[in-house]
Amino acid sequence: MSKQFDVVVIGGGPGGYIAAIRAAQLGFQVACIDEWKNAAGGPAPGGTCTNVGCIPSKALLQSSEHFEHANHHFAEHGISAKDVKMDVAKMLARKDTVVKQNNDGILYLLKKNKVTFFHGRGSFASKAEGGYEIKVAGKTEESITGKNIIIATGSNARALPGTPFDEVNVLSNDGALRVGAVPKKLVLIGSGVIGLEMGSVWRRLGAEVTILEGLPTFLGAVDEQIAKEAKKAFDKQGLKIELGVKVGEIVNGKKGVTVNYTNAKGEAVVLDADKLIISIGRVPNTIGLNTEAVGLQLDERGAVVVDADCKTNLPGVWAVGDVVRGPMLAHKAEEEGVAVAERIAGQHGHVNFNTIPWVIYTSPEIAWVGRTEQQLKADGVAYKAGSFPFLANGRARALGDTTGMVKMLADATTDEILGVHIVGPQASELIAEAVVAMEFRASAEDIARICHAHPSLSESTKEAALAVDKRSLNF
Ligand code: FAD
Ligand code: NAI
Repeated sequence: MSKQFDVVVIGGGPGGYIAAIRAAQLGFQVACIDEWKNAAGGPAPGGTCTNVGCIPSKALLQSSEHFEHANHHFAEHGISAKDVKMDVAKMLARKDTVVKQNNDGILYLLKKNKVTFFHGRGSFASKAEGGYEIKVAGKTEESITGKNIIIATGSNARALPGTPFDEVNVLSNDGALRVGAVPKKLVLIGSGVIGLEMGSVWRRLGAEVTILEGLPTFLGAVDEQIAKEAKKAFDKQGLKIELGVKVGEIVNGKKGVTVNYTNAKGEAVVLDADKLIISIGRVPNTIGLNTEAVGLQLDERGAVVVDADCKTNLPGVWAVGDVVRGPMLAHKAEEEGVAVAERIAGQHGHVNFNTIPWVIYTSPEIAWVGRTEQQLKADGVAYKAGSFPFLANGRARALGDTTGMVKMLADATTDEILGVHIVGPQASELIAEAVVAMEFRASAEDIARICHAHPSLSESTKEAALAVDKRSLNF
């Protein structure tokens, strides 16, 4: 007889492993199946996020930022650093160590919470009495059954039609994190989150970077004023971003890649590159799940169809994270994982989609929560706006990083905060205060009246809140 579990989670990324841990905390017998392999063929749970996403990209962003600081900013602090060199192999090895620490940490957490981990591919075999039979194909093959199944199989990089990833010249996010030497010329297609983060890494290390974007607007989902400020900073750094292009033929040759495209003026351009990174979004991953065996409903993009509670069309089958609708973010996947585990336990798990923060870890960082000014206008909401530039913040001056601002949008009548948008130093950390405030439905005045430590970047958030009422103290 196959092993029986209350909950079987397929996928051990942030959606899956967190769901497994929460379900175990709630007293269920839980299995988590993940197929990711490390270089030695062993288990490497943590999914895209840990292996080829959030964590390794932030490791490289950190290394490359140190390099940029040593080269360009130490001098203003009176530190002379001559002949600063980057050992790319060492940088990549450090990144791999950081990834491994996270893989090991997750394995430890699963064990600590008594989650049974299976290394292999999980797929639906059939409906079984009181649940579903799941086949696990790893080193050996076995069958387990679960009363409840949580699908958390994530997403894969979207390829450009006709240009498959070879991870040598044409790179997905995976290859982009493993380039062994700084390319002289790097082209990226798509100036979204990955394009900007990975473009920044390799530009800081000395590559000549061009990002080709199909849309005529830069970062269309970001508040326009913030996106404009960020674009100014990227231009100044020499990150070349071409908007409104139409990518044509791409030739992947022995020496590199040739990209043909039409620019916004309608001119034909030919661009040679040593490496090409394609960062045009991601597709939900249900490959190998054998959804047909049980009749699981997928949409036209291949995403698992779920309702607001992450329930699929099958009783007892749930899906979370990148494989379902909504933003493809690790923390969104985690929140859904927790909520589903709690719903299985009969509790009222909840994910507030209005307060999911976004962060782009470039320099300056870009972070936001809630609605943008353009969305509020489109929704016909009367609002007040207040902003505060880091240029007027003492801590930012001391840091030597005064780019950008904090901008707050509040309801014109109730003063409730509707959105906070930041471009500048440590925006990724600063946004947390805004998320808490919005989750508690705070008014701009609430933030304005809270004591913020001096000198700190967070005073800019307080000042932006004061500016909503047109009473900034330091600007
Ligand atoms: P995944 O992390 O993709 O995990 C799915 C797991 O399921 C994988 O381990 C996969 O091997 C496994 N799997 C799939 N099918 C099966 C099967 N049939 N059987 C067994 N196992 C299976 N998000 C952020 O919030 N912040 C960031 O800074 C950030 N940076 C990113 C940088 C890059 C370069 C990329 C590509 C993504 C980044 N993301 C970031 C997005 C984030 O990685 C995803 O939103 C997140 O990983 C989604 O989690 P998930 O659990 O849904 O899926
Ligand atoms: P993205 O959706 O952020 O950006 C894709 C960009 O490519 C868009 O600007 C789009 O207009 C453009 N594009 C699409 N097709 C094109 C074409 N044919 N030619 C030219 N441009 C084209 O997707 P990206 O950067 O691939 O990242 C995928 C997802 O991973 C993100 O949406 C995000 O959810 C997640 N991620 C999150 C990070 C974070 O939170 N810091 C970091 C990296 C990724």
